[in-house]
Amino acid sequence: MAYAVEMVNIVKRYSETGVLANNKVSLSLPKGKILALAGENGAGKSTLMKILYGLELPDEGSIAVNGEGVKIDSPLVANKLGIGMVHQHLMLIDQFSVSENVTLGQEVTKGLRLSHRQRDAEVTALIERHNFPLKAEERVGELTLGQKQQVEILKMLYRNVELLILDEPTALLAEQEVDALFATLRELVVKGVSIILITHKLREIKVISDYLTIMRGGEVVGSYKTAEIDEEEISRLMVGRTLAFKTDKSSYQGEREEVLRLEGITLNAKGAKRPLLNNVSFSAFRGEVLGFAGVGGNGLGELESLLGGFVKPSEGHVFYNGEDITGYSPRQLRHSGLAYVPSNRLTRGSASQASLAHNLIATKVAQFTKGGLLQRRKITAYSNKVLADYAIKGGSDAAVGSLSGGNIQKLILAREIEHLHDYIILSQPTWGLDVESSLSVYNKMLDLKRRGVALLLISSNLDEVLALSDRVAVFYGGEIVALLEGEALKGATKETLGAYMLGLKGGGVSGT
Ligand SMILES: Nc1ncnc2c1ncn2[C@@H]1O[C@H](COP(=O)(O)OP(=O)(O)OP(=O)(O)O)[C@@H](O)[C@H]1O
Ligand SMILES: [Mg+2]
Repeated sequence: MAYAVEMVNIVKRYSETGVLANNKVSLSLPKGKILALAGENGAGKSTLMKILYGLELPDEGSIAVNGEGVKIDSPLVANKLGIGMVHQHLMLIDQFSVSENVTLGQEVTKGLRLSHRQRDAEVTALIERHNFPLKAEERVGELTLGQKQQVEILKMLYRNVELLILDEPTALLAEQEVDALFATLRELVVKGVSIILITHKLREIKVISDYLTIMRGGEVVGSYKTAEIDEEEISRLMVGRTLAFKTDKSSYQGEREEVLRLEGITLNAKGAKRPLLNNVSFSAFRGEVLGFAGVGGNGLGELESLLGGFVKPSEGHVFYNGEDITGYSPRQLRHSGLAYVPSNRLTRGSASQASLAHNLIATKVAQFTKGGLLQRRKITAYSNKVLADYAIKGGSDAAVGSLSGGNIQKLILAREIEHLHDYIILSQPTWGLDVESSLSVYNKMLDLKRRGVALLLISSNLDEVLALSDRVAVFYGGEIVALLEGEALKGATKETLGAYMLGLKGGGVSGT
């Protein structure tokens, strides 16, 4: 069989932390096929792919591309071998346009200087061929995270890669967007491109991959033909046992009390015809999960920014416990009780150079200071407790930058939940988390609910939204087009939500 790539007995130990991230890992992918790489948080998946892309050097092991032994010691070498990678955390330049990002670096290697117009035209053609909802001239900073993921993919398509590595590309996409991405991947495969896809989602593994390799604790648990293994078996191999999750929606016993209210919130965009948010009103109550659903680009990103204090509304008001907090800065909001798990965890969520301990106490430094000095021992004790509580793999003194993607997410969740007063915004709370960690987050959310916290859940995972929410607001075109609760919500399926999200149904806003 002709292999696009073969990695044999790869060993990688990170010298700073001593972590053995890959322990004699082998993996192979026949040409023109799709391999899913799965496994719990911290299993070593990203590390293995960084080695294949020349971002990390292995301590031992060998790599062959198209049957020939190679030494990949930089991404440039990887590119020359036809390997491209879309990272778990996006690496785009916000100030540049879509087409500038897509073509970045290519002017040089292609040995030609493209004019703005040629470049935009080329990228527009590529966008149209793959049906992405993007414009070549748009500034990347204005895009939703889902769209940014698409720009990363375009970047690779523009480079005519032969082996495409995607590290959790679907984590922030709505189901319809995932389907569109998979259609693109299938087209690439037909053209002979080989693909390695990291994902935690069992459905995706079954739907898109030909082969599956599962990792745990830095080692390969097994490699399979996807058609020959069922979802239950996959899940058991990933976590070592089967897991179940039961929701209990009616658990808060106290008064129904409003915590947060948005009244007629409109957010105008410079130069755009329609507002990004249009006359949005809703209330969030104690002991309730208010879920939000919407396809990227329909206002949820703006809603999140607004609730977090990163943008101010053009019209309308926000009230917290009856007090007008419209236009408060992120800092002021935090002082008044906001806890916030942002979807953009690297820029808004954490300081990557700082230690885990310092990230954990960032919002409560005063509690750990005496006579102007930080109380080291107290900090370490506190952070060790939280790290254990949330099963975060990493020591108190380690830098956040040395954590795996899922463990960074757990760290932010831990910090925010520990900071919590009476309402919390959770945007994509299980982004990048493995099945077990996701379930533990759901259980934490239900605990908070029982304690009378108001939870606002923004998520592209509709199963999650339906399982946890007491009410669901669906956004389309910057407006709430449906607010489902009670019987209407009980009878709702993903398809029901999907129809509202695509604007096929709408205007049926009822209730509070
Ligand atoms: N730069 C680094 N320095 C030190 N340790 C690291 C570094 N990057 C990763 N690690 C450690 O190596 C292990 C494997 O991490 P890796 O990022 O490969 O996991 P992963 O399988 O991609 O997990 P996730 O699903 O959470 O993204 C983890 O214990 C992690 O903390
Ligand atoms: Mg990873």
